[in-house]
Amino acid sequence: MHLIAPSILSADFSQLSSDVAMINKSNADWFHVDVMDGVFVPNISFGFPVIKAIKKHAEKPLDVHLMIVKPERYVEQFREAGADVLTVHIEASTHLHRTLQQIKKEGMKAGIAINPHTPVASLSDIVFEADLICMMSVNPGFGGQKFIENTYRKIQELKELIAIHNSKTLIEIDGGVDLNNYKKLIAAGADVLVAGNTVFSSSDPKATIEVLKKG
Ligand code: DX5
Ligand code: ZN
Repeated sequence: MHLIAPSILSADFSQLSSDVAMINKSNADWFHVDVMDGVFVPNISFGFPVIKAIKKHAEKPLDVHLMIVKPERYVEQFREAGADVLTVHIEASTHLHRTLQQIKKEGMKAGIAINPHTPVASLSDIVFEADLICMMSVNPGFGGQKFIENTYRKIQELKELIAIHNSKTLIEIDGGVDLNNYKKLIAAGADVLVAGNTVFSSSDPKATIEVLKKG
């Protein structure tokens, strides 16, 4: 069964605790938490105080997606803030193997995110060290962007790579997931669907999560 991870980036920050409560009550599986540093991506989101505030109320794991340069500097602090899954970009971490070990040593699941232009083949010597691959289906930085269709081909390639290594790595799709493409993504092999705009701009976010979860 696939997992649903609503992205907090699209929540209403002026009433964060009620959006967190909605996700607690829904049949979503994880909280997707996007951290942006204004360097790796052209946007700044939020940091430790906000993650700690979410953690205080969240009854489900925090899936923290770091869009920051040199993420290895902050692994321990993200664990202390409440991350359960910590994902770093392959394009942002020079010693990625070491970073993944660091994350796992802290007791978190380790994820690797790849940008739309990054070939799946670049994961061939590291995929089996990761609990999750976060495949970006938009250019990271903003919610509400249009899904990039080439993602389907990359999912197929990634599935094959994971199978070759007999690995249990999950495939997460992040960006532009909506009510028109979620079924096709699940059929293609997505294990985790991130959804920001689709959930939070809906008139009934909890019901929308239910639809995404049903598949
Ligand atoms: C994009 C973020 C995504 C974003 C998804 O940089 O990594 O997690 O919140 O938002 P939607 O679902 O609106 O594309
Ligand atoms: Zn994300």
